[in-house]
Amino acid sequence: MSNNENNSLNFSSFEDDNIKDIITPNSANSQKGGIMQSFLKNKKSIFITVAITVIAVLLLVFTLLIINNANSNIDNDDDEKSGSSKPSSKDKVTYTTNNFEYKVKLTSDVKNALNTKSKDYLLLVNKSNPLGESYAPNNLLKLDSSICTKDCELQEYAAIAAEALIAEMKACGFEDIKITSAYRSYARQEQLFSGYVADEMSNNPSLTETQAKEIVLGYSAEAGYSEHQSGLCVDLINTKKMVGLYNFGSETPKNEYDVGFAELEEYAWLLENAHKFGFILRYPENKTGTTKYDYESWHYRFVGVDVATKIYKQGITLEEYLD
Ligand code: DAL
Ligand code: ZN
Repeated sequence: MSNNENNSLNFSSFEDDNIKDIITPNSANSQKGGIMQSFLKNKKSIFITVAITVIAVLLLVFTLLIINNANSNIDNDDDEKSGSSKPSSKDKVTYTTNNFEYKVKLTSDVKNALNTKSKDYLLLVNKSNPLGESYAPNNLLKLDSSICTKDCELQEYAAIAAEALIAEMKACGFEDIKITSAYRSYARQEQLFSGYVADEMSNNPSLTETQAKEIVLGYSAEAGYSEHQSGLCVDLINTKKMVGLYNFGSETPKNEYDVGFAELEEYAWLLENAHKFGFILRYPENKTGTTKYDYESWHYRFVGVDVATKIYKQGITLEEYLD
């Protein structure tokens, strides 16, 4: 005999007992006893049913709590697959990627860009390594116009990373941060450089053009030598506090309406967080001997999170890292 048969036999004998209790008694007493017995048995059944229902409800609630908890862990998980970027509660929710905490959830495209290992993003451009007149990146992406003071473009991953950086800064309360310069063509850099030379000469008419050029070379690259021509760097600005850009190149306020970028909270934040988006402060205050340019608190260069984190931790320049 199979177990199934056994079970069905036992089950039917139990059912038979119940039926017997209700329909077999002949006398009043035995009928009374039967009703009482049946009542007690029914009471027992009701109790068992209620108990099972309560346990089932408790199990359901417990299971829902576990599922809910698992879902919130997935939201924080490094291996998020959906690629969706849902807005986060500014103060409470943080998302973890590369062991870093972010307020804004990073899509898989952003993570891919930030974690690039491509050597193309380590291109060194300085006074000893010019790009030349014919160089122009072939993978420029236009950035969201809402985060630029005018049209701006960067190489693909740098563009994605810059948008993520600005989104994070806004989530941290820096609503007025914008990119004021990104990719600059050779022609644009030539225009800027000659404009600065002309400004220096008009501010100090005793300067020769060569002397003016020497001064400008401290803060601006000659055409063909600018990192901006690589499409891998950005200049940042606070559009409310740096209204006139009068003091854009200086860290000492020249008037009450304008401040230097290094005096802003944005700058303090960037010093601690830019590397999480693959950016480095390209021209630090204590490294002018290495970079050969004046300190620029507003200029950030994309190299990818891996290299940016090493440069940040070691307090070195891109020149020193690549040396
Ligand atoms: N201001 C930086 C050095 C440039 O002109 O590229
Ligand atoms: Zn710059």
